[in-house]
Amino acid sequence: MTNANIHPGSINDDWPGYSLDLFNYPTHYSGDLDCVIIPHGVIMDRTERLARNIMDDLGDHDIVVLCVLKGGYQFCADLVERIKALSRNSNHTIPMRVHFIRLRSYLVSPPSRPLSNDQSTEDLHILGAEDLSFLAGKNVLIVEGIVGTGKTMETLLQHVKAFKPKMIKVAGLLVKRVQHSLASVPDYVGFEIPNRFVVGYALDYNEYFRDLNHICIISESGKKKYKV
Ligand code: HPA
Ligand code: MG
Repeated sequence: MTNANIHPGSINDDWPGYSLDLFNYPTHYSGDLDCVIIPHGVIMDRTERLARNIMDDLGDHDIVVLCVLKGGYQFCADLVERIKALSRNSNHTIPMRVHFIRLRSYLVSPPSRPLSNDQSTEDLHILGAEDLSFLAGKNVLIVEGIVGTGKTMETLLQHVKAFKPKMIKVAGLLVKRVQHSLASVPDYVGFEIPNRFVVGYALDYNEYFRDLNHICIISESGKKKYKV
């Protein structure tokens, strides 16, 4: 991750988003969303460009993609597709492996102050990362759907570094503009977004909305409906 305060593809706090009426989306979510903040087609176009930037930097050596589940699966799949297309169409193709890891956060709040459904906790545990010795000497690309406080990324980076890869880069489709600015941001950022809860394109609210293609803002009634 690099230190930087400049983010490409910044979506302003006052951006009202697109009306849901402009696009198709699953009817089982009608009333559950306020607006579309990033339509699926725009995500795909941005991903294509990120793939090119990634290949320019990492394309000299075997790549291992570390997909952070579950929220990163769609971005990772689409990004890998585009990297493959670039590799197919160039005269130096590079082998690529894809590995999946998952971060579990445990509820650590006292019962008197339970966390609400759109908050995350700090106590992280990495699953699927027990033996990453195959990362040694490789170019590693960590792929995340959304980066909030950056704590998840930091934890993961520390863990991955221990396996001595040649290079580590981080790609995050979305980076939230949080109060305390991040110490580090991903090397490849799709969009910087307002600090609001978003869903769709594999990002969930209590496991709902992963089956929505656009990135949307959940409505208050949606939050209530899918609360656990
Ligand atoms: N949406 C879904 N998952 C998340 C978010 C979000 O806004 N922030 C952190 N994890
Ligand atoms: Mg989630």
